[in-house]
Formats: sequence, C-alpha cells, structure tokens
Amino acid sequence: MKSFRIGNIEINLPIIQGGMGVGVSLSGLASAVANEGGVGVISCAGLGLIHRQAAGDFWENCIWGLKEELRRAREKSKGVIGVNIMVALSNYSDMVRTSISEKVDLIFAGAGLPLDLPSYLKPGSVTKLVPIVSSSRAAQILCNKWLANYNYLPDAIVVEGPKAGGHLGFKTQQIDDEHFSLENLIPEVIEVANQYKEIKDIPVIAAGGITTGGDIYRFLQMGAAGVQMASIFVPTDECDASIVFKNTYINAKEGDMRIIQSPVGMPGRALDGEFIRSVEKGLEKPKNCPFHCIKTCDYTKSPYCIVQALYQAARGNMKKGYAFAGFNAHLAEKISSVKEVIALLKADFSLACQKHLAVVGGMK
Ligand SMILES: Cc1cc2nc3c(=O)[nH]c(=O)nc-3n(C[C@H](O)[C@H](O)[C@H](O)COP(=O)(O)O)c2cc1C
Repeated sequence: MKSFRIGNIEINLPIIQGGMGVGVSLSGLASAVANEGGVGVISCAGLGLIHRQAAGDFWENCIWGLKEELRRAREKSKGVIGVNIMVALSNYSDMVRTSISEKVDLIFAGAGLPLDLPSYLKPGSVTKLVPIVSSSRAAQILCNKWLANYNYLPDAIVVEGPKAGGHLGFKTQQIDDEHFSLENLIPEVIEVANQYKEIKDIPVIAAGGITTGGDIYRFLQMGAAGVQMASIFVPTDECDASIVFKNTYINAKEGDMRIIQSPVGMPGRALDGEFIRSVEKGLEKPKNCPFHCIKTCDYTKSPYCIVQALYQAARGNMKKGYAFAGFNAHLAEKISSVKEVIALLKADFSLACQKHLAVVGGMK
C-alpha cells in the first residue's frame, strides 16, 4: 500500500482509523493504529463523561479529557494522531480550539458541514482540516465557502458512504439506493477535488463498509488516496471500549444490523439489542438533560439520550445503550491486535493487487 500526504504530513499506511464515540476510540486505539503507520483518531464526543475531574463541569472536563487523551496518545506513539469532532456537538468550538492549540495533526469534522472550521486557525497553526462529507454537493459547497470566506481549501476530504457505522449523512430511503453508493460517490468527489488541483492537492479518502484488503485495493484503484475504517478496529485488544461491547460485534449476525433514527436528527447504523427495542416501546424517554451536548437535540422530544446511550454501551452496559456498527461489522470473528488486523489487510491487499495484475496481464 502506497503512502500519501495530507499537506506536509506523510501517512505511511493509507488507512485512517475512523473516530468512534463515545469512548470507543481514545488514545489506546489511536496510538496503536498510528504505530502501524496509519492515522489514529480520538473521538471528542462525550469526553466529559469519561474524564470526570471533581473540579470541573462537563464542558471543562471535555477540554481536560481531550488534552489528556492527546497526551497519552503521544506518550505511546510518534505517529500521526487526529481527532474526530462532530459539528453537531454543542462544544464543537471548544474541541476545535483545543485541538488546534494542542497542535493535533488532523481534525476530522463530520455530522454536519463544518462551514466555519478554517476560522479557528491562527498564524502558525499546524493542524490540517479534513471535512467528512456524504455527497459531491456537500464537498462542492464546502470548498466554495472555505475558499470565498477564508481563502482556504480542505487539506483532504473523507467521503463517508451509506455502509458506514454511526450517523449517516443520507435520508433513510437513500441508504440502500445504489445511486448513493460509495463506489458512485468517490469519482464524483474526486471530480470536485480536481477542480482545485492548480491551487491545492486535496486527497480524497473513502469510508464506509470497507472491510478487506481487496476493498482497499478497489477504492485506491478508483483514485482514493486512502481509506477510513472504523468497525474493523472495534474487536481489537487496543480498542478503548469494554470487552462486552467488542463481543457484541463478534456475536453479531447479518440480520442484527439496524438503521435507527438518532436524536441528532440523522439516521444511524447500529447493532440491534434490548435497548433499541425498549426505545421503540417509548421506555427510554429522558427525564432531564444535564448538558444539552448536541445542538440539534431537544430532550423533551427525544426518545432517549444518545450520548448516555453510546457511553453506557462502550462501558459494556448494553441494557442502557447500543453499539453503532458499520454494514460489515457482523463479519468479525475474534478479538485480535491492531497489528494482526493490519497485517491481514496488507496480505489481502497484495493478493488483490496480484490478481488484478494477472487479469490485466492476461488481457494483453
Ligand atoms: C462505534 C462507532 C462510533 C462512531 N462514532 C463516530 C463519531 O463519533 N463521529 C464520526 O464522525 N463518525 C463516527 N463513526 C463513523 C466512523 O468514524 C467511520 O467513518 C465509519 O464507521 C466507517 O465505516 P466502517 O465502520 O464500515 O469502517 C462511528 C462508527 C462506529 C462503528
């Protein structure tokens, strides 16, 4: 697999570990992926629940928690570390400002269009900005607005297709529609990026449902510079979630994958379970809301508190939450190390490459 660059950052292995909240991808997983030459990503969602400092309120604890996770990741790895910040978070600004002042390598911003993201950069900032989009239209709007308002273009773009885990940037009826498949989206977004190639090289990264080295080979052949993968890293020793959470992936069957409606206002892909069924019966309605952590969430109208549900699940309390998961998450068979996962991906990638070359050679 070829290395690629995001700005001046050389990424030796073209695999970005997708950010996973709440508390699924923290410094443990991020540093392990970074040590293999990929990009390790810490999720900023709900860090104040994970890092409860007696002295601070939730918002202060989120900032403290982010600094602490970055410190731990850097202690364990000299590789490339990014953060994932959902635009829908009420403390999006706090998380962006802290990441930039802590000199994080890359910010990945999704779950909404990060239209103002470059406004946080200061002279001398080193952090690279990578929006996550689910359509070429969103990529075009973002490039136009950033260029017009900040004379800045994305340092890379992640294209997240409908097979991803977590929140999906699609209407429910688009999720299974081939027109919106990642295979269709990638060339369209590359076309948008190419409009700016005289000004800046904008690598396009494919995400959502990518599971094997063969999948990686296919998307790189289509012109993607790299891939973002998340679910594949859940059943690993280094993933920061509880073993109970990891085992829901191991025990999942194809029929367990669900599309749910999230209080964030988007559909989401998750594994079915007791909590989801209880939500459907209207039994999980929040009685109050201590933080108002999602801008678009009104707890009086929400069927449950999503940050609590994701946090509880990651801690292994599956009665009180559920696991977000990508389309192929049910294929997981055992818990292994990040090193083993990446070695398998590399071997399968080489095989796909050899097969392709043999076919091309046979046609000559
Ligand atoms: C458990 C889980 C939590 C996730 N949390 C977030 C998140 O907080 N922010 C975000 O932008 N994407 C989130 N995602 C999406 C991933 O970052 C990634 O882009 C996507 O899952 C890729 O598809 P894959 O899981 O099939 O590889 C999450 C995905 C999973 C599986």
